[in-house]
Amino acid sequence: MPIHNRIADFHDDMTAWRRDLHEHPELGFQEVRTSARVAELLRSFGVDEVVTGLAKTGVVGVIHGKHASGRAIGMRADMDALPILEATGLPYASKTPGVMHACGHDGHTTMLLGAARYLAETRNFSGKVYVIFQPAEEGLAGGKVMVDEGMFDRFPMDMVFGMHNWPQIPEGQFAWRHGPVMAACSNIEITITGRGAHAAMPHNGIDPIVVASHIVTALQSVVARNIEPVESGVITIGHISAGDTYNVIPQTARMLGTARWFSPKVGDQLEDGVRRIATGIAASFGATAEVDYRRTYIATVNDPEATDLAADAARAVQGEARVIPMSKPTMGGEDFSFMLAAKQGSYIMLGGGRGPDDAQVHHPKYDFNDNILPVGASYWASLAERLLAV
Ligand code: NI
Repeated sequence: MPIHNRIADFHDDMTAWRRDLHEHPELGFQEVRTSARVAELLRSFGVDEVVTGLAKTGVVGVIHGKHASGRAIGMRADMDALPILEATGLPYASKTPGVMHACGHDGHTTMLLGAARYLAETRNFSGKVYVIFQPAEEGLAGGKVMVDEGMFDRFPMDMVFGMHNWPQIPEGQFAWRHGPVMAACSNIEITITGRGAHAAMPHNGIDPIVVASHIVTALQSVVARNIEPVESGVITIGHISAGDTYNVIPQTARMLGTARWFSPKVGDQLEDGVRRIATGIAASFGATAEVDYRRTYIATVNDPEATDLAADAARAVQGEARVIPMSKPTMGGEDFSFMLAAKQGSYIMLGGGRGPDDAQVHHPKYDFNDNILPVGASYWASLAERLLAV
């Protein structure tokens, strides 16, 4: 059974929903139009219950199978966009300058909507399916807010599943992995305070730009020299700002960055290393460094049993050859991690079939591949019909 025929029938509808969402992207916890659109569509499909206002803008739809049972599963999509100025030039490009669906969450939302439509029409399962549309995946932990608000108590389910499109994987191919699949993350902000001076009289000041430069260089040694080589860790400084002009040594410099890891030990080593190097180097120059180190997302860890069920559901749609194990996890972050920490489940990747030279996720020219909409929706339908078989 490849793509569900009924789902293929409304591929055009799904493409239209996806492009409408793409034209109207909204940032985390501001998905007002998006969640209203999701709720409206769910109601139009005859979904039994549509609960809105979860974690501000989240929506959960409840679909009852043909037969009642105590069993239930959750299927989750994220709805938020990124603060990126779109540069695709597509006819359905973002109408909100500086906000863009550059991670394909418009596609995720659409694939789950497609599944909801099919499942509400056919109801060929027993128990309940919860379709979870969460806000604020991009850095604001909307998934964690939903868990903290008691989503799993309010909607009791046996397992929960997530899916992300992945442009580099061949079109329509699924990739699964037991155990860690996405990394834990932190946001790092370092403020260096030196002493401002005339650029021609550096001996009167303490140059925070020179201090920042040494810190950036020395931070590379944490991964290279403190972390055990077979472990994984990343520290990236993504922003430095200081000063305004040619001939002034500024008073302060500011650096923003992130660290990524899997093992708790490495997480502690990265934080210790950033704090030690920033404060130590600043002190050695007579400056001070204030380090604001915030751990944001925990690692996304797939339950092996749930992952095998997810992979089986994917094979039922795309066949053995197009469902492959991921050889390694990615260092990206994902707040579905908090749902997986609270509930047995799995997070799977769906290939978008873009080449290495095409724009990838979080790029201003990223373009979600609408060909995979019925594939993703069929996967969700397959998962529900198999796990909650009548
Ligand atoms: Ni994403």
